Amino acid sequence: MNLPNKVELIEVGPRDGIQNESNFIPTEKKIELINALSKIGIKRMEAASFVHPKYVPQMKDAKEVLNGIEKSPSVQYMALIPNAKGYDRAIESGVNALSLVVGASDSFNLKNVKMSREQSIKKFATVIEKAKANDIFIRYSIATAFWCPFEGKVDTDLVLKMVEEAEMIGVDEIVLADTIGKANPKQVFDLFKTTISLKTKSVVSAHFHDTYGMALANVMAALEAGVTRFDASIGGLGGCPFAPGAAGNVATEDLVFMMHEMGIDTGIDFGKLLSCVELLKPFTNRELAGHLHKVKACQN
Ligand code: COA
Ligand code: ZN
Repeated sequence: MNLPNKVELIEVGPRDGIQNESNFIPTEKKIELINALSKIGIKRMEAASFVHPKYVPQMKDAKEVLNGIEKSPSVQYMALIPNAKGYDRAIESGVNALSLVVGASDSFNLKNVKMSREQSIKKFATVIEKAKANDIFIRYSIATAFWCPFEGKVDTDLVLKMVEEAEMIGVDEIVLADTIGKANPKQVFDLFKTTISLKTKSVVSAHFHDTYGMALANVMAALEAGVTRFDASIGGLGGCPFAPGAAGNVATEDLVFMMHEMGIDTGIDFGKLLSCVELLKPFTNRELAGHLHKVKACQN
């Protein structure tokens, strides 16, 4: 196998994970988790989102969270935004790295942000122009890049066109997201291989959910295709409230365990990561999705 020596892991638990929890997690608990995650070798994190609190109440305290954390100079804290209002709120909160989301599938995008895909792209072009003038890092996530919960399989050519458009607007990172966790490793390999062959200036990252238990297999397929940046969520929490049926993200602890077992460096202290999982446990009334927890249960 042609594997890299190291990979970068982007922790999305505080955003993708927490946004999907039904019980409101108190602001100080969110801050405690982000602070703990900042001390274990994670270099990049989606810390919150500036979306409408009516639609995603868990994120209503995004400003307080971002102002309350002890920002480590070695960690990039990103905030997700859906539109220009989100941009203004994020900037007011001192954010310097943004995560912009557009669904490749129109039906999903309409449900998620109440705009067509083209409307989102057009609105984001203005946001990106402003952001670039202010030296803000732009992560551009193409949601439902493989499957849509409403339209089924998503057209690969459409996704590639979106990648090229994003590159032209000058984003810093392009994320291809399997929002509903239905992609298979062959599909993942093919799309990432073609995307990487475009030789974009922006880095390409992968975002997998584990609905059908294929998230780690998809990580392997993306690795083989040349991807070295992966989103993961602590405890395997996660899911989009507007993508029915989606399970959580690939669990950070599973991903780190697999990489380390294969001799691939993540820069993350695995023991300390497990302590963060312990911190997280009372946040959710669901059993944590990560496979590692089942192994631990067997050993006990
Ligand atoms: N944050 C807070 N309030 C916002 C906002 C934002 N990012 N964007 C718009 N609003 C407010 C407007 O100011 C307006 O307020 P008013 O009624 O007091 O004047 C109101 O919401 C309606 O504005 P509009 O632009 O028509 O928004 P909308 O109702 O069409 O909703 C989104 C659009 C994008 C705000 C909403 O669909 C949303 O927040 N989606 C979140 C999706 C998400 O988080 N998905 C998971 C991650 S991918
Ligand atoms: Zn996701």
